[in-house]
Amino acid sequence: MPRLPAPPLPKILTPKPKRPGEETGPISPKDTAIEGGIAVVDWIDERTSLSPGLRWMMFRRVPRGINWFYTLGSATMFAFLSQAITGVFLAMYYRPEASGGAYESIRYITDQAFLGQFVRGMHKWGSSVMVILIFLHMARTFFFGAYKYPRELTWVIGVTLLILTMAMSFTGYLLPFDQRAYWASIVGININGTGPFIGPYLSDFLRAGPEFGATTLSRFYAIHMLLIPGAIVALIGAHLYLIMKLGISAPPWLKAEDEPEVELERAEV
Ligand code: HEM
Repeated sequence: MPRLPAPPLPKILTPKPKRPGEETGPISPKDTAIEGGIAVVDWIDERTSLSPGLRWMMFRRVPRGINWFYTLGSATMFAFLSQAITGVFLAMYYRPEASGGAYESIRYITDQAFLGQFVRGMHKWGSSVMVILIFLHMARTFFFGAYKYPRELTWVIGVTLLILTMAMSFTGYLLPFDQRAYWASIVGININGTGPFIGPYLSDFLRAGPEFGATTLSRFYAIHMLLIPGAIVALIGAHLYLIMKLGISAPPWLKAEDEPEVELERAEV
């Protein structure tokens, strides 16, 4: 197979041109490492052709006048990633057993596991941080009018992400299975049951039957660590795809500028 031309490299990976007289000098370990890195990237790219896609993702035009409020979406994503990572470590010790196992495992994590209290604290406080950030991000996109054409679908996916994030908080709250978690979840499920039409079915689904009990805990755990995170990951992917495809909206106070050709035509009229 003929060798494909290598894609242009980012500046950081391009070795500095040699100064006169340097050619004969010994090759430093840093140069060898850089050359090695380039060879690996080239090798992968020749087989996958990933670089055009990566360039499409990373090198985008952004409108003038964007500000710190535009970082709230990325901040929400960072909070989600932190929840995912701390959640994996908690799952290594947590046992979803209503007969005391869940409560005991949480006590073990808090009192004995190495850095357990820290990781649990990060996960617990991180959930509130994510909820606050997602609301702030939604407020930014609303007040800047970023939900308007052509970004309606980005908004609709965002609303679904918001609902799923709230559902994460709700299902996570039961997992310590202490008195507060138990009774608060009963109240929450009963409130769900009062909803029109699907309410009673929804509360039956959440309880995993007519009675609140051991199966409820397993159901909440499965929803909390498998179902919703999977859906969130997929929807964040779709959200980000649309943001890359449509570009970021300009701040509303920026004067709209026409394309150069349109301005030329206008000048000619
Ligand atoms: C897990 C939750 C979410 C994540 C990780 C996320 C991530 C992002 C990121 C990284 C951006 C681009 C930068 C920015 O504007 O901040 C963005 C843009 C956007 N998001 Fe979200 N988002 C989430 C939830 C939401 C919610 C709840 C809504 C609204 C209901 C929403 C609506 C939008 C819209 C309309 C844009 C386009 C903004 C523009 O073009 O100016 N997102 N999102």
